[in-house]
Amino acid sequence: MPSAKTRPLSLVTEPIKPLIGSCVRSDKQDLLSGKFAGDIRELLEQRGVLVFPQIHFTDEEQVAFTNTLGKLEPERNSGTVFKVTLDTKENPHSAEYLKGSLYWHLDGTMNDVPILASLLASKKLASTGGNTGFCSTYAAYEKLPAEKKAELEGLRVMHSVWATVFYYEPEPSLAKLQGMQAIGERELPLVWKHRSGRKSLIIGCTAHRVIDMSPPKSTELLVGLREWATSEQFSYSHKWSVGDLVMWDNTGTLHRAEPYDLQSGRLLHRTKLAGEEPFA
Ligand SMILES: [Fe+2]
Repeated sequence: MPSAKTRPLSLVTEPIKPLIGSCVRSDKQDLLSGKFAGDIRELLEQRGVLVFPQIHFTDEEQVAFTNTLGKLEPERNSGTVFKVTLDTKENPHSAEYLKGSLYWHLDGTMNDVPILASLLASKKLASTGGNTGFCSTYAAYEKLPAEKKAELEGLRVMHSVWATVFYYEPEPSLAKLQGMQAIGERELPLVWKHRSGRKSLIIGCTAHRVIDMSPPKSTELLVGLREWATSEQFSYSHKWSVGDLVMWDNTGTLHRAEPYDLQSGRLLHRTKLAGEEPFA
């Protein structure tokens, strides 16, 4: 660890890909001190995903670090730290619901104000697979041709959790469907105009139909935008090592877990930053 004299005065970072992702190599003590919190927030908004390799935060340190960056959003069933796993023994409440996380999405499309960011710390690896994929919906929007941007202007999309069930269970029981439908639906703009002036796309597996558009046209548009936004230039797939912490800007990225052996015990600990900006 560098001494106080040699300790860097600014955040130590390097880009991962031209349009998404930065690696942060500042040491744990500097990160926990909060002195770079403003720089981290700024970098997060610019780069979408920040990777802190091998930082090995304990749960307490992860919570403390999250608190330096904004307001920690408590987890529904488990206090401040949530165990992300598809193992029903570890996570009896949410393992089933988390199956939808294998498909591109942003968190909180059913809420007025989606969470600002999530922070995931790797505790146990999958035996194979299990990367987390990210793509920048800011960069994907910004790189669209002007005529496509004009076509998207003003469009609204119905989002629902129930529609995502069909991604992993094509023939659900009626009771299961009704349980998911009880969560409700929400109409959102396709293009999110942020307070900063930047725009991002609100798409992903919860986006199930464009309002006032025929079903084939609507599906064609949403699939085309998903394919564009998740293409190589806008996306990054993080291969985990135990001890890595990855945080992402939930308001300008999509994410997904990549397939893995569900019996492998893959485990990530998550904290969240409360949302600060409504969808529109
Ligand atoms: Fe998610």
